[in-house]
Amino acid sequence: MPLLTVQDLYVTYRTPGQPPVRAVCGVSFSLAAGESLGIVGESGCGKSSLARTLIGLQPASAGTLTFEGQAVDRLSRQGFRDYRRAVQMVFQDATGSLNPRMTVRQTLHEVLRVHRMRPAAAIPQRVDELLDLVGLPATVLDAFPREISGGQCQRVSFARCLALEPRLIIADEPVSALDVSVQARILNLVRSLQQRLGLSIILISHDLAVVRNICDRVAVMHDGVFVETGIAADVLDAPRHAYTRTLLEAVPDVGRALQRRGV
Ligand SMILES: Nc1ncnc2c1ncn2[C@@H]1O[C@H](COP(=O)(O)OP(=O)(O)O)[C@@H](O)[C@H]1O
Ligand SMILES: [Mg+2]
Repeated sequence: MPLLTVQDLYVTYRTPGQPPVRAVCGVSFSLAAGESLGIVGESGCGKSSLARTLIGLQPASAGTLTFEGQAVDRLSRQGFRDYRRAVQMVFQDATGSLNPRMTVRQTLHEVLRVHRMRPAAAIPQRVDELLDLVGLPATVLDAFPREISGGQCQRVSFARCLALEPRLIIADEPVSALDVSVQARILNLVRSLQQRLGLSIILISHDLAVVRNICDRVAVMHDGVFVETGIAADVLDAPRHAYTRTLLEAVPDVGRALQRRGV
């Protein structure tokens, strides 16, 4: 049974007095437990709209989501809460997605407490484990987001997601705002989390080089539709669809771009 199945999903934005914007127009795919899917496509093609719909932040205008065999729109209230916990998202702006008034320790403590992931007495130890999982030193615990680097903030975002013991993490352009030298390290973290914890990952990027080595499969998105899906290496080395070729031509050598970043 796939972890997640998306069938003929549409997302349309309606603003009074303006024509509707069809951001996602009939997307279907499924994702196995432990699998990683890259979604690539130019800015504005609908990647974030799809992601927000998958985590329940944006309603679908049509289509169905099935998670662990259950239709998401038919879940009980508790079932939907569990779904929202099982599917977590990491955003591009790591620093901005953290509460500026909370230290790293407070951020992680709070999420564990509010979601009752551990009894109070076990929380400090779990905070240490989470830091370890994302490769952060204990010295950052009492820092505020502005006092640590963008890469470290992104690691804290991953730790905050992992606190909820998700089955799927959707990372929406997680390295686009980071220095090139830091990007590879965060991408290697994503890959190691997938491998060590058996997590499913949806990695969204406008950057083919980012997806090429991290993801098992790739979907190429254009104007709200998936124009091509397949094994990442196959699609990116021998694209079938004209649009995929156009995207690849914009990055002359995906392999070299990756090597430069140490992925
Ligand atoms: N809240 C919104 N209201 C209206 N239109 C939106 C909204 N969010 C995104 N859009 C539009 O939907 C389309 C897809 O946007 P988005 O999902 O952000 O694409 P991507 O993440 O691939 O850059 C774009 O045309 C964008 O302008
Ligand atoms: Mg986006």
